[in-house]
Formats: sequence, structure tokens, C-alpha cells
Amino acid sequence: MRRKLAAGNWKMNGTAADLAELEAMKAAAATKQTDVLIGTPATLISRAVATAGDAIAIGGQDCHTNASGAHTGDISASMLADAGASHVITGHSERRVDHGETDAIVAAKSEAGYANDLTAVICIGESLEEREAGQTLDVIGTQLAGSTPAAATGANTVIAYEPVWAIGTGKVPTLEQIAEVHDFMRSQLVERFGEDGNAFRLLYGGSVKPSNANEIFAVSNVDGALVGGASLKASDFNAIITALDEA
Ligand code: 13P
Repeated sequence: MRRKLAAGNWKMNGTAADLAELEAMKAAAATKQTDVLIGTPATLISRAVATAGDAIAIGGQDCHTNASGAHTGDISASMLADAGASHVITGHSERRVDHGETDAIVAAKSEAGYANDLTAVICIGESLEEREAGQTLDVIGTQLAGSTPAAATGANTVIAYEPVWAIGTGKVPTLEQIAEVHDFMRSQLVERFGEDGNAFRLLYGGSVKPSNANEIFAVSNVDGALVGGASLKASDFNAIITALDEA
């Protein structure tokens, strides 16, 4: 049985004042079976770890492929681990678009995470143009194969399906579309990794809210969510954690 995972991605949001939201999420998470993760800005990781204790795992939102060196402004996986992070989000579409990250770079970043005992939350997803052109499964297959390192296991890797057109737009694929992609990702992982392919947790991300969480969590091969905007406030995110816990 795969454990459920409610993951939040705070993106470029959050200062010390927002630790109060984390504190309120911790109170809810502590009463649930569902695993909870928040990807905070790097500046908040150590304080978030101190606030969240064992109730919520804290992750970074990106890392460099290299362990150290002359890369001004970048953060290595070992720095994330040193700050107390247990996870790193890799390949978010905002990184792929804003920073030109390719599947090969995403795989290398995920490997850098593994080398520092970080679980990689690898993000993939098609654009609107790709969906409308009927290329969704081709794109997902290519991104999944190229972004997931050979060393990936169900224990060190989570895959997040985030259709680019559903992120921050309020638009959500139909439940049939989510099921199609998640079932496809599962079959691809089993084909590549054998029985362990069944151990990878598959998250859906893109405009998940308290109002749509229940129906999304009932979809086949959806093991949780990667939530952006609705992870910033405990009032929203706690409702999503509860919906997943009860799914
Ligand atoms: P929203 O939940 O704000 O659509 O963001 C999803 C996302 O990009 C999570 O990584």
C-alpha cells in the first residue's frame, strides 16, 4: 500500500510571518495518517523544520546539479539537506520554462537529491498546445522517462503530474483525463522498474482546492496532490489534507 501524500509548494511566497500557517497545518497533520510535505522557499527551510517538527516534512523547490562551486545564487542538494529538508521538488514547469530546464537537467538534479538522501518530487506535465494537439501521453511518456533517473525507486521518488495549463488558472482536467495520465504513468513505471513501479507515489497538481479535492483523490492512481496557491493558508490546506486522509 502506498502512503498518501499531501504536498504543498509555496513557490516564491513566504516569510517568517507565514510560519504561523505552518504551525496551524502541523496541528492538523499530526492527527492524520496522510504524509504532509511543504516545499518552502530555501530561506525558510531551517525555521520551517523547527516549526513543523515530525508532523510535516519540509522540502526545497529546486537544487543545482553540482555539489558545490561557482554558481552564484544557486543552492545545492547538500545545502537543502543541511538546512533540514528531506525532499526536493525537481522539474517544476516554472523551472522548466523560466530557467530552461530539460529532462536531462531534471534527472541530474534528482540524482543530486538522492546523493544527499533527499526524496525527489519530479514534476511533469503537458502544455495546452500539446494537449490540444493530442500529444499528452507522448509528452508525459517522454518527460517521465527522461526526468526520472535510473536510480529512482518508489522510496526515493514521487512523481507529480502537473498539466501546465491547470497551474494557477483554476482550470482542472476532467477526472477521466487525470485517470488516463495517472494510469499511464503507473504502467510506464512498472514497465521500467518492475514491481517497484507500483511503489512510486503519483501526485496530481494544478488548481487543487478544498472544493475539488475529494473528487480528485477518488481517481485511480492518484496518491495525493501537489498544491500551490491553496497550500499557503492552513484553512485551505488542512481541508485538502483531511480530504486526502478520508479518501
Ligand atoms: P496551483 O495549485 O496554484 O495551481 O499550483 C500548482 C503547482 O504548480 C504546484 O507545484
